[in-house]
Amino acid sequence: MIPKTRKEKSKESGKTFQTPKGMHDVLPGDQPYWDRIERVVRDLAEFYNFARIRTPILEFAELFQRTAGEETDIVRKEMYVFKTKGGDVVTLRPEGTAAVARAYLEHSLGRMSQPQRLFYIEPMFRYENPQAGRYRQHSQAGFEVLGGSNDPIYDAQIITMFQRLLETLRIKNTNLKINSIGCRVCRPLYRRQLQTYYKTHEKDLCSDCVGRLKQNPLRLLDCKEDSCGRLKERVPNVLDKLCSTCSEHFKTVLEYLDELQLPYTLDNQLVRGLDYYNRTVFEISVEGKGSEVGALPGGGRYDYLMELLGGHLTPAVGGACGVDRLVAVMKAQEIKIGERLSQRVFVAHAGELAKKKCLKLVEELRKANIGASEALARESLKAQLKAADRDGAPIALILGQKEIYEDGVIIRDLRSGLQETVPLHRIIDEVRKRLRDKNVVEVTPIHD
Ligand code: HAM
Repeated sequence: MIPKTRKEKSKESGKTFQTPKGMHDVLPGDQPYWDRIERVVRDLAEFYNFARIRTPILEFAELFQRTAGEETDIVRKEMYVFKTKGGDVVTLRPEGTAAVARAYLEHSLGRMSQPQRLFYIEPMFRYENPQAGRYRQHSQAGFEVLGGSNDPIYDAQIITMFQRLLETLRIKNTNLKINSIGCRVCRPLYRRQLQTYYKTHEKDLCSDCVGRLKQNPLRLLDCKEDSCGRLKERVPNVLDKLCSTCSEHFKTVLEYLDELQLPYTLDNQLVRGLDYYNRTVFEISVEGKGSEVGALPGGGRYDYLMELLGGHLTPAVGGACGVDRLVAVMKAQEIKIGERLSQRVFVAHAGELAKKKCLKLVEELRKANIGASEALARESLKAQLKAADRDGAPIALILGQKEIYEDGVIIRDLRSGLQETVPLHRIIDEVRKRLRDKNVVEVTPIHD
């Protein structure tokens, strides 16, 4: 009987298995992008002295209801909320900041040296309508500075780190947008002004925004509906309404960015999709190729968030960048990642005894930090060398009966086909020398 194909079996059972909507696999072909991004994030974290934090994927749903805000899309529509068998109402975390703040309070990190500089690279879950750069499961790389003072230098440093992240990944045409949305003193005045403005245009608002108008008018600036979007053009400018302390704070952030020669655009309608922000908010996106994914890093100051969780007023600022979006932009901008395979040598055997010796040779190469690949399970030398060709390895090391007897290894240049036998004890040095001559980097990390 001819075995059925997967398609035929699926047709019979009426079900084809695929990822749930809005979620995607990261296949081996894309892994180098993810590895590269994670490496750059970790290097930046190390350089700027940020320590990694990992929080659970599940949190109490109330954590986000209290902090992100009841009127935000994230809380109203996008959380994966469910009841556990024990009756707890939990959610797959939609974002990282509230979770990090919860951990800061829970573990009294405020008693340690301040500020605490923390970073994470973790998956987040939002039940959104999938589209370019918008997934229901996505990963974010975040940097958060918690505690200490609300010195504007921290705002500037966070923004700088994200700019460095994009630069190091060689992402081009970036546009940093920045705004200040004030504090408890000046924001209520601005809210009232917004309410007055939007009330005169209430008939043009979408139904969601009619509700938001009473509860949280700032959210109207975040609405994606066309009719609401048109009204934004003549909206009062938040920067004109800042109190003198917020104004001074924002001016200093901008001066620091000027000092660092980071170009920015003032965007007085940038409020971001979460309620916990005060003062500085920012987003960085790209123009041209890759722009369809939307904001890459986004963040801001959130000095009141700890209070919302029952802690003391604790200054904090941070941001997070979508990793899936970084990958999409890198591909759209045709940014090449260093080829891993060409950094390797290929080890091949001819015969059973040689196979055993090859196993040892591969381990010795690994110990010497030289990337090695092999196809030792294949018996024919020809098949193994074909695999070496596919790998793109520049050098092959070949062991047969004769070489074992003579304590040597054939070293073959796979580009020219030239080969010679080298004593086994000299093989590591010889490989290193040849890789250097070929300008092939031996160790995997590629730092810019
Ligand atoms: P957010 O703007 O909601 O902010 O998300 C941060 C970044 O995550 C976005 O700029 C985007 O790159 C990526 N992102 C968000 N949603 C999706 C999605 N559905 N699919 C793909 N990528 C997405 C926050 O979450 C804040 N916690 C950022 C922050 C950290 N603020 C202060 N500290």
